Amino acid sequence: MSEEPATMKAWTKVRAEQNGFEYIDHPIPKCKSGEVLVKTSSTSICGTDIHIWKWDEWSENEVPLGTITGHETCGEIVGLGEGVTSHKIGEMVAIECHLADWTCPRCLEGNAHICENGTIFGLNIDGAFGPYFTIPAQNARQIPTGLDPGHASIQDPLGNAIHTLTGGPVNGATVAIHGLGPIGLFAVNAAKAMGASMVIAIDWDNRYRMEMARELGADLVLGKDDDVVARILEITDGRGADNTCEFSGSPSALSNAIKSTRMGGFLNILSVYANPTPPVPMNEIVFRYLHLKGINGRKMWSTWDLMHELLEAGAIDIERIITHRLPIEQFQQGMDLARSGDCGKVVLDF
Ligand SMILES: NC(=O)c1ccc[n+]([C@@H]2O[C@H](COP(=O)([O-])OP(=O)(O)OC[C@H]3O[C@@H](n4cnc5c(N)ncnc54)[C@H](O)[C@@H]3O)[C@@H](O)[C@H]2O)c1
Ligand SMILES: [Zn+2]
Ligand SMILES: [Zn+2]
Repeated sequence: MSEEPATMKAWTKVRAEQNGFEYIDHPIPKCKSGEVLVKTSSTSICGTDIHIWKWDEWSENEVPLGTITGHETCGEIVGLGEGVTSHKIGEMVAIECHLADWTCPRCLEGNAHICENGTIFGLNIDGAFGPYFTIPAQNARQIPTGLDPGHASIQDPLGNAIHTLTGGPVNGATVAIHGLGPIGLFAVNAAKAMGASMVIAIDWDNRYRMEMARELGADLVLGKDDDVVARILEITDGRGADNTCEFSGSPSALSNAIKSTRMGGFLNILSVYANPTPPVPMNEIVFRYLHLKGINGRKMWSTWDLMHELLEAGAIDIERIITHRLPIEQFQQGMDLARSGDCGKVVLDF
């Protein structure tokens, strides 16, 4: 611990406006009982970070000003709080950003990701767009064998993709992925790896990502020039997809997703909507007898276990999906790039 400096510079949301980030000094955080201190290796930029950068209605309600944001991260353990025996100094870990109390009814039923007293690291409390952070030891996950520690931060969005997919059938099923941001791209790749019989990938006009989806195994790729609902119905013998996943945050994609899921099918929604009340073709949900599910975070720990199996089998093409690595000082350039959409996953290195 004595080797660590007293202060650090970290990207902090300081003003209630678009951007509103500054790279400012903070004390190095100190471990409380049960926590570990992690020296950050890399933190990737999430769609959620873009919402915070834009300061839309959703982020205004979630993120206190003065917060060091950044939640998709990995690093080396450099300090152990009182009572921590599960981890060792020098170990590389990746972070589950949903912090739970492990005692409420939701936690006890196995849904700690929606703990009634939960907080989210890098959103409601300080996170990892800085060189050190503290976290409860159980949220610091050992890295699976064979995964390059430099790639470990992407387990958060890959886990989001897998959790969303597992809201419905995947093996042998027709899966439609709406929105080909990094999470949608991970979902295309994971759906193929998990045995989907057909993967349909849909974006609006991002040709770069549509091409990536093709390379990652999509059987059909659609965009704004296609009649998305008609094409999905056509290729599924008029039925619609068994399992539809919405990752775009676009009201029109949500409507397409509802109308192109088969009778009795599954619609799993991970997106955060900048407009929290998008129009919804409600009667289609009712008469199609859809299973509609909101998805939040990752299951602790079944999503992580399935993800580690896929990673250990080399089934996910992480190198293809990470398209840019920048030093943390270039946070603003990284955010510009992520907002432009001319990228897959953007990772910031320390
Ligand atoms: N619920 C959670 O726990 C959770 C966690 C992480 C991220 N998210 C949310 O998930 C979403 C996906 O994240 P990301 O980082 O992959 O997003 P992203 O914003 O990088 O990508 C969204 C993609 O959707 C495409 N798109 C826009 N309009 C479309 C349309 N009409 N039809 C199809 N595609 C369209 C865009 O071109 C873009 O490629 C975001 O809304 C993010 O905030 C939720
Ligand atoms: Zn994220
Ligand atoms: Zn709880």
